[in-house]
Amino acid sequence: MSVESGCGDCLSAEVLSDQLGTRVVGRRILVYPEVASTSTMAVELAEQGEPEGTVVVAETQTAGRGRMGRHWDSGPHLGLWTSILLRPRVGPSEASLLSQVAAVSLAEAIAEAEPAVAPQIKWPNDLLLGERKVAGILVEVKAEGDQVNYAVVGIGINCNHTLADFPAALQPSATSLALVAGKPVSRLQVAQSLYRHLDAWYLRFAKGWREPIVTRLSALSGTLGRWVRVETGREQYEAFAEAINQDGSLRVSLPGGEIRDLMSGEVSIR
Ligand code: BTN
Repeated sequence: MSVESGCGDCLSAEVLSDQLGTRVVGRRILVYPEVASTSTMAVELAEQGEPEGTVVVAETQTAGRGRMGRHWDSGPHLGLWTSILLRPRVGPSEASLLSQVAAVSLAEAIAEAEPAVAPQIKWPNDLLLGERKVAGILVEVKAEGDQVNYAVVGIGINCNHTLADFPAALQPSATSLALVAGKPVSRLQVAQSLYRHLDAWYLRFAKGWREPIVTRLSALSGTLGRWVRVETGREQYEAFAEAINQDGSLRVSLPGGEIRDLMSGEVSIR
């Protein structure tokens, strides 16, 4: 489902910056035809002292990274593969909320770019359309003492994939915006919308807003109020997803009544 006749939808720093209107996100935009990983590149830039707001985009990644050490499939021109460098003035514990900030921004951007689809956030930060994953977020934070040095927010959105564009193992569980909308989508519009929403929510986060982020996340959640299967690496169990706490953790109740707050882990909806 390509919209690239003569690469009309090719991304460039020039078109991405055009009328972007953000304050932090996208102050500098770097676009590459191919990199190992936009997040690895953003981490390297951060280590060299790059200021916050820089966005790295690649048309394809040869070693795209997902959560839990997984590979992220990043085919050429099919999706938006991007990483954003931020330097929030917060401690490491608060920085975990950045993945919620990114999830809310991503859900709003997907809804805006393609109104025919209603995205839901699967805790902690997978974006689902129906039961299928359309986008994912990987936040990597480096702290020194009690201060965050930098955070790299890596976001992958499946935009113009057909089902055959996904590896066979992902075909039962993955989707793209185009597959759901029934027509190709503009990656440029998706990208600009994402940067604008992320800019707005990041500025609120930087001002100390916490409750509105969790309230918005809860409203967009496809996990709350459902029975889920929890996998923590140490154990697996079934639980009912009760609420998202102010620190972004997920409160679940077990069948025997025990309450647990999950800071990390995988949750699958039953
Ligand atoms: C996940 O759901 O597991 C997170 C996937 C994050 C993928 C994006 S694509 C752009 C950025 N670069 C990477 O190597 N990973 C993130």
